[in-house]
Amino acid sequence: MFDALKAHHASVRDRRFETMVDAARAADFAVEAGDMRLDYAKTNIDAEGRALLIDLLDQAGVAVKRDAMFAGQAINETEGRAVLHTALRNLDGGPVLVDQRDVMPEVLETLDRMEAFAGDVRSGAYRGQGGAITDVINIGIGGSDLGPKMATIALAPYHDGPRCHFVSNVDGADIAGVLRQCDPATTLVIVASKTFTTIETMTNARTAQAWMSDSVADTGAQFAALSTAADKTAAFGIDASRVFGFADWVGGRYSMWGPIGLSLMIAVGPQAFRAFLRGGQAMDRHFLSAPWAENMPAMLALVGLWHNQVCGHATRAVLPYDNLLSRLPAYLQQLEMESNGKGVSMDGADLPCDSGPVVWGEPGTNGQHAFYQLIHQGTRVIPCEFLIAARSHEDDLHHQHQLLVANCLAQSEALMRGRDLDAARSKVAGTFEGDELERQARHRVFKGNRPSVTIAYPQLTPEVLGQIIALYEHRVFVEGAVLGINSYDQWGVELGKELATALQPVVEGKAGTDGKDGSTAALVGFLQKHGV
Ligand code: F6P
Repeated sequence: MFDALKAHHASVRDRRFETMVDAARAADFAVEAGDMRLDYAKTNIDAEGRALLIDLLDQAGVAVKRDAMFAGQAINETEGRAVLHTALRNLDGGPVLVDQRDVMPEVLETLDRMEAFAGDVRSGAYRGQGGAITDVINIGIGGSDLGPKMATIALAPYHDGPRCHFVSNVDGADIAGVLRQCDPATTLVIVASKTFTTIETMTNARTAQAWMSDSVADTGAQFAALSTAADKTAAFGIDASRVFGFADWVGGRYSMWGPIGLSLMIAVGPQAFRAFLRGGQAMDRHFLSAPWAENMPAMLALVGLWHNQVCGHATRAVLPYDNLLSRLPAYLQQLEMESNGKGVSMDGADLPCDSGPVVWGEPGTNGQHAFYQLIHQGTRVIPCEFLIAARSHEDDLHHQHQLLVANCLAQSEALMRGRDLDAARSKVAGTFEGDELERQARHRVFKGNRPSVTIAYPQLTPEVLGQIIALYEHRVFVEGAVLGINSYDQWGVELGKELATALQPVVEGKAGTDGKDGSTAALVGFLQKHGV
């Protein structure tokens, strides 16, 4: 699939792409959509490479697959499900059919119910035993945590509702730390779980229930649930009026646009939440209609495929120069790695190439003082993705924002240009001489020629956040479609869950370690000796 691209890459891999980056290339190797600009001029992709990459989309039938997704076909073939998170933000779009039934009336009705409830929580019309709600605790994990948590932090400047906390880890330190900050009489607990079976979430939910029941007479009245499993939320004791359901065609890691976004909606208000949805919808429309070369999700995906599958760079760093996006890398780790970390194609055959990349990162400028050393001088190339806003929300700290922007642009420039030995020698010429000068100079060489892309936007508003998240969702779709994998299942998380269930009685000392490997048995023994 990548043969022509690999041959092309072999013929251009040693050139300095910096020499190509003039104003014409900057205009040509960039895409603008909605409020955003994607610059991929600082890569080794040239016109021929881009044409070959775009060919991949046609060879893989990406347009047909994309249209099938939006049309509600069961493209999640291993689970026999449609993939329709886009319907959750289809605010003023047409009908969306699943099995010949329009799902939009139900989607919009649930959105109305969420807005009414969020409005009541925010206004104080809905109260806890001790009065208006001061704290909301979202208990969920994976897609039922990462999305709403990331977005609630991202939209902090719009936060005018009660305090929002997020509990995910089964490690009791997580929930204990949050419960200590809250008054049970004025706290709303939202149990967010698509399946309502996830062991971490259900364990934490029961802990919260016990904590509240010590001082609140009707704990059920201060719980809400976000789930596809109405029978299970009822069995847990949550009244149907505070249960917000969604269908199985919303994947967990794609679910923040619907009920799983309730905590975000309570934090920033229904209006800002709708603006977030509108941003996502705008990106959907762009993805559906723009020609490939001008299609931001498609081009971002092709840059990703170029670096990972063609050049062989196994990881990509996501580096938001926007502290509000501090949880974006963690969110993208699930979105990208749970979606495209698959070793077989849709038909069950071994994947003939590498699966999706390892995604990691931290906000700048913090990362600069931590791991950028390796990005600049380590032996492996790490393609970087920078995100930067023209304006922050801190008007009176504009000079700090300009410094942030300068740092962001400086990093992509440094990665591309590097510093050769002559320039390094000049740097140290006044301080050292002879062999020592040579040795010191070599430590100051930056090979450069390291690729990056930059995603720029005016300001991190709810609309822009919606565009960014939908951009990444569609990028994942395109990469997965080209690789021929199912981006919408996650069988790879099952084995660990099964083994944990089997190990629990062993850890508790209710069962022996027979049948366990020597290493696991020894670790159980050590932990038991020390009091587990
Ligand atoms: O274990 C992985 C996973 O299934 C994710 O895909 C999902 O986002 C997370 O667990 C939480 O699942 P649920 O929302 O059903 O509790």
